[in-house]
Amino acid sequence: MLREIDNNIWVAEQPLKYWGLEVGTRMTVIRLTSGELIVISPIQSDKTTIEQLNEIGNVAYIIAPNLYHHLFVYEFKSIYQKAQLWVVPGLVSKRPELSFDKEINNKEGSIQEEVDYLLFDGFKVLDLTGSSIVNEFVFFHQKSRTLILTDIAFHFDETFSLKTRFAAQILGAYKVLSPSRLDKLATTDKEKVKDSVEKILCWDFDRVIMAHGSIIETNGKQKFKQGYEWVFEKNYLSKKN
Ligand SMILES: [Fe+2]
Repeated sequence: MLREIDNNIWVAEQPLKYWGLEVGTRMTVIRLTSGELIVISPIQSDKTTIEQLNEIGNVAYIIAPNLYHHLFVYEFKSIYQKAQLWVVPGLVSKRPELSFDKEINNKEGSIQEEVDYLLFDGFKVLDLTGSSIVNEFVFFHQKSRTLILTDIAFHFDETFSLKTRFAAQILGAYKVLSPSRLDKLATTDKEKVKDSVEKILCWDFDRVIMAHGSIIETNGKQKFKQGYEWVFEKNYLSKKN
């Protein structure tokens, strides 16, 4: 079910467990002036959500924003066959059976000059295979001054279960807009991350939507800056993050 966040921007959420913890996941929908819709990080669709989407506009872009959030993109593409499916570099070799309309090869760009995007370069996570590059593209909806992130930062707070809050505290991701301590350790090329952070800070955003955590309605830029201060530190591996 879609929830309106501001003019021309909605989210929909569903439960998701990761390593046994309830972290939830969220997709974002943006309506362009043309009436076309961008769906970022689709979740499993249901009848209500599809009906709502059809009411608010025409789904024209379906985006898998990184190498992890791609599970439901084909479900959406099969419903909205005329929409363009965008994937990030590396997804095709991860899921060779998939077909897509565009691989986002340019590190920066914009969709109809209303939504800017850029590659959050160098960011890695620790997963079952070790440390893996995420190739995440982040988005900025100019009109609503919203930054849209997927896995490069969490924002868990008291609305989450005790277990998730406890884990988030241990991992340094409680009530901060930040990646986990493990992701910071996995991210060795912090120069690239720093460049990406600096570019994001040039965008005039106030709200931050992320896939896992509570939406930050205001002062998002300040929170993002605080959560990524570690890339500006000279010796962050030896410091307590
Ligand atoms: Fe995720």
